[in-house]
Amino acid sequence: MRLVFIGPPGAGKGTQCKRLVELLKIPHLSTGEMLRSVKRQETALSRWVASYIDAGKLAPDHLVMRIVAQKLQSDECENGALFDGFPRTIIQAQLLDDYLAEQGIRLDMALELKVEEEVLIQRLLKRAQIDGRADDNYETIRERLHVFKTQTAPLTEYYELQGKLERVNGMQSEEEVFADIKACVAKH
Ligand code: AP5
Ligand code: MG
Repeated sequence: MRLVFIGPPGAGKGTQCKRLVELLKIPHLSTGEMLRSVKRQETALSRWVASYIDAGKLAPDHLVMRIVAQKLQSDECENGALFDGFPRTIIQAQLLDDYLAEQGIRLDMALELKVEEEVLIQRLLKRAQIDGRADDNYETIRERLHVFKTQTAPLTEYYELQGKLERVNGMQSEEEVFADIKACVAKH
């Protein structure tokens, strides 16, 4: 199974992917985590990547696709993958479709987690106190929300036209959200 999670910052993409990994036994590919691990290295590339993440802007499409393609080539992704926070632009979605088509495979489902903006901001400000993620400050959160609305939200239409979109109310408890996601997975 190959499944894409679409949702604004704080929607619960990472939280729900961790649960699904246990159920589906396929790897969790978070481009946010991958880019943060590039950022931790002390290289010119890491400083370049940090300039995007820390400003709440999207890293360049082809860089992200290259990092994802490297992961997809590994044996552990043979039976599927959970894409968390990727694709994030129509171009990334097309690059992924093309990449998978070359291998004769395709995405099974795109899952949109819907959460109101006020709730997202509260969740992320709360997480800031625990995790200390550099982009969890009010100003950057606002930018990430704006980027989501303008660049990522159009993906729902892209996948709806492919007949792959499912929507889940992400404002319920983590358990309730997970139950709805499992029902969507069963459908596909
Ligand atoms: P990324 O790491 O993907 O961050 P994000 O999209 O901003 O989302 P978050 O990780 O903040 O939220 P989440 O939906 O995973 O929620 P979580 O489960 O943690 O991207 C970071 C940056 O990397 C981007 O800004 C960009 O610069 C770059 N980047 C990444 N991918 C890219 C790409 N494809 N192209 C270009 N650039 C890219 O939950 C949030 C909090 O809420 C947690 O504390 C959690 O405990 C809590 N919570 C979760 N669910 C619930 C619930 N149901 N009820 C109450 N609390 C809940
Ligand atoms: Mg996340």
